[in-house]
Amino acid sequence: MTDVNLTHLLEQMTIEEKVGQLVQLATPFFKGATDRGEITGPMVQMNISEEDIKQTGSVLGASGAKETTNIQRVHMEENRLGIPLLFMSDIVHGFKTIFPVPLAIGSSWDLELAEKSAAIAAEEAAASGVHVTFAPMVDLSREPRWGRVMEGTGEDPHLNSEFARSFVRGFQGDLENDHTKVAACVKHFAAYGAPEAGRDYNTVDMSDWQLRENYLPAYKAALDEGCEMVMTAFNILNGVPSTGNEELMRGILRGEWGFEGPLISDWGAVKELIPHGVAEDAKQAAEKAMKSSVDIEMMTSCYTNHVQELINEETLEESIVDEAVLRILRLKKKLGLFENPYRGTSEEKEAAVILSEENRKTARELASKSMVLLKNDEVLPLASDQKTALVGPFSTSTDILGPWSWGGSAEDTITVDTGFLNHIEKEKLFISEGCGIEEGTEDQLQSALEQAEKAEVIVVALGERSDMSGEAGSRADIRIPEVQLDFLRKMKELGKPVVAVLFSGRPLDVREVIDNADAVIEAWYPGTEGGHALADIIFGKVNPSAKLTMSMPYSVGQVPIYYNRYSTGRPKDAPDAQVRYVSQYLDIPNEPLYPFGYGLSYSQFEYGALTLSSDEMKYDERLTVTTTVSNTGDQAGDEIVQLYIRDLVGDVVRPLRELKDFKKISLEPGETEEVVFQLNESQLRYYHANMEHKSDAGEFEVFVGTNSRDVKSKTFRLVK
Ligand code: IFM
Repeated sequence: MTDVNLTHLLEQMTIEEKVGQLVQLATPFFKGATDRGEITGPMVQMNISEEDIKQTGSVLGASGAKETTNIQRVHMEENRLGIPLLFMSDIVHGFKTIFPVPLAIGSSWDLELAEKSAAIAAEEAAASGVHVTFAPMVDLSREPRWGRVMEGTGEDPHLNSEFARSFVRGFQGDLENDHTKVAACVKHFAAYGAPEAGRDYNTVDMSDWQLRENYLPAYKAALDEGCEMVMTAFNILNGVPSTGNEELMRGILRGEWGFEGPLISDWGAVKELIPHGVAEDAKQAAEKAMKSSVDIEMMTSCYTNHVQELINEETLEESIVDEAVLRILRLKKKLGLFENPYRGTSEEKEAAVILSEENRKTARELASKSMVLLKNDEVLPLASDQKTALVGPFSTSTDILGPWSWGGSAEDTITVDTGFLNHIEKEKLFISEGCGIEEGTEDQLQSALEQAEKAEVIVVALGERSDMSGEAGSRADIRIPEVQLDFLRKMKELGKPVVAVLFSGRPLDVREVIDNADAVIEAWYPGTEGGHALADIIFGKVNPSAKLTMSMPYSVGQVPIYYNRYSTGRPKDAPDAQVRYVSQYLDIPNEPLYPFGYGLSYSQFEYGALTLSSDEMKYDERLTVTTTVSNTGDQAGDEIVQLYIRDLVGDVVRPLRELKDFKKISLEPGETEEVVFQLNESQLRYYHANMEHKSDAGEFEVFVGTNSRDVKSKTFRLVK
């Protein structure tokens, strides 16, 4: 169907049929549905008729070839003009084969593998009848209290942008011709990751400058990569809820960036303009959202019940509705749904691809590449012939898929104990839970103590239940629950080497864990193959290489905390700093416990001298930055070499460090590699006070190192 045909189709549509396209309902509303599908928000009473449902444009959360085929078939029989439904779901870190949560994927710094994981997720979901995934979520966050940090790749705009591109490429590929692909929907526009006090859905207030510098780049990167859809954020941004924010949507997204695809609200977010206090009723909410170019209303009925009325009374121009409908029809056309409403849906394909050996292999590789070794006092890797106790609430738990893995199942999940049994004989492994996540019994403790007594080394698997993060999963105390800390202390008291493994959806305050363990691994939520991946690391089959992409705070009192911060006028480490009048806490350090980019390996990497091709760089030239990295350990290993800059004097303040590039290298024991980066002028640009994005001639510092703290540096001048 051509665009001309789409216009023709539009001309044939009644206003009810047009409005129907602007509505998205969850699976249970549709005839032909046999299960609830994915329910990801409050199911409030909706004033919506059978007739409205027949006109509806898209379905939320249905999957399974049988289910989606049924729903589509009934719909096609009943829809007057035969406009197919779009099926959308949250395929965030895998569909049935669950990959590590995105924060973990970020820690791999492996853009290719991230892309591959998205391609696998797309293939499994497309076979199951899904057309659009509500991913990638690219909300930059400096807020570990916020439960949704697990869904993004961290605190850095450059790294987040690179991952945004990778995910979009993986999901979409050649979307028009390849029906194993799904359209991506980048979310949540904008700045959802900066809620005040880390509480989900809370107010976001930031300068336009901050927004453009740090928060917008990853959404833009996803769109530059061709991302087909955008989802609005729940939050207020500078006084105006995103879902009714004309300046943000028509001004920046559509105006400045030229985005022409469908913009969908988050679940219920149109109607939430009422409790936000910017709409007096559902009708005004519909008006504001439509005028902001929000094309699809998810799971409330403000459009269904009021758009026609708004047009009749000339509050809303019908052309705005037409534009929105056309954007949706264009996507349906692009996906090939007018030719074949069932697209890539196939039960045979489902059986062939879902949880295939190949997909599991990739999940295992990505999971082991995303676990961060935080501490290792010569305990890891463990030898397979060592008697080992595996204790703690995560030792046998299937709750390691993490939030946003509704398609995954416990039966398909490799638990930690199963993973261990690949490496160690049953007789040498002593397993006991020890305690629950938030409470424990004396019997549980006694049984774990007995098991631990028999062992030479104790592995304690601790953490947060997956519903303690994710949407609506904010926490004010970001330590693991006290019962688990207490359990860890008891294990430590046995005087044997202790390895702590943390399962979490956020960087936690891990001080007490660090103090009570000889080795600590942050495993995040590692997904379907988590148990295998962890065991691969613990027993040395895989050498850890992951590095944090969010600073790990010393305590929650430091939050928000991020590496690319600015200097104050009274920096603590200035040569002339006085004892009192400097920017500092009196009771804790300013620095995080572990900085952005941090992560250990079983190998040791030594950085050689840093050299620059010149101490000057002209605007149209490149500067070559070179260092050497040697593996001085006795195992092959991967190192993520990071390059940061600092603009020493700017029109506005500049971060103390800004990540501009990185390289992941593999080194055999004793091997040295020369690592070469090219810097150019465009990487030195930033938003000035007048919002111009440009660089300034002057002095810069360039840093290269193993994390954002431990670096070598040189200076150069950018000259006209
Ligand atoms: O995609 C999600 C969004 O991230 C949070 N609210 C519900 C949506 C649809 O499931």
